[in-house]
Amino acid sequence: MNLTLRQLQVFDAVARHLSFTRAAEELYLTQPAVSMQVKQLEGAVGLPLFEQLGKKIHLTEAGQAMHRCSRTIAEQLREAQQLIEELKGIEGGRLRITVATTVNYFATRLLSAFCHRYPGVRVSLDVTNREHLLRRLDANETDIALMGQPPADLDVVAEPFMENPLVVIAAPDHALSRERRIPLKRLQQETFLMRERGSGTRMAMERFLAEHGITPSSSIEMTSNEAIKQSVEAGLGLGIVSAHTLELELEVGRLKVLDVESFPIMRRWYVVYRKGKRLSAAAQAFKDFVLKEAHQC
Ligand code: PGA
Repeated sequence: MNLTLRQLQVFDAVARHLSFTRAAEELYLTQPAVSMQVKQLEGAVGLPLFEQLGKKIHLTEAGQAMHRCSRTIAEQLREAQQLIEELKGIEGGRLRITVATTVNYFATRLLSAFCHRYPGVRVSLDVTNREHLLRRLDANETDIALMGQPPADLDVVAEPFMENPLVVIAAPDHALSRERRIPLKRLQQETFLMRERGSGTRMAMERFLAEHGITPSSSIEMTSNEAIKQSVEAGLGLGIVSAHTLELELEVGRLKVLDVESFPIMRRWYVVYRKGKRLSAAAQAFKDFVLKEAHQC
């Protein structure tokens, strides 16, 4: 069979997601480029690998067989890479880090300090929300992840390294911004700007509000902390965000943290990797660095 590793990699992504669009997003390719690679692979194999039933695509029998092979090949390539990284040691090693969107507010400072200490390490940083981050961990596509609540349904090692308080923010001229000890029930009448589904902040916020029997009168969904902060500042409603996203806005007085009873919601940040994963020297050094130095960044 005359096929290429690239074709297998693209096929593997489509087979995992059962979606050309999601595979294209993951690989930073266009959808026609993904379709083209799959077509070429089908040409090499001589059989169709996917079939469309209604709106969904499915693996054919040949597709299922190829998927078993592509998973094994991807795993072996990762192992080969791991061995090479170990031989290279810290300097000259490669490090794949995935961080939750909210972590990125301090991850870049952390990374900058790490790269100054170990200038030879080649780092790739992927910033994404909790749900995507979990997928990358599951597919063994990242060495280390920095995130909130570690997943219960995935075998991981998770070590806490910093507190992560979630606070309620408002525009400085909001009626509540001068009040003290605001009762939780009072939030019920407010519009809330909340992160998208799949965000760890959103998950924690929903759990907290449900536990306290609070249902905000209305809510608007946004896919970034920046969009939430700007909309709160513009008077669109209240937001619940990690205090780590706020430094600048509080300093210049563009936002206020409200004094609401039972707040902040206390969470923690964790450094996480798959159980059983052999960390490269560079990954081990980064993990130790985070545990020791993160609180100073
Ligand atoms: P996120 O942050 O909301 O950007 O996904 C992760 C988390 O708080 O768990």
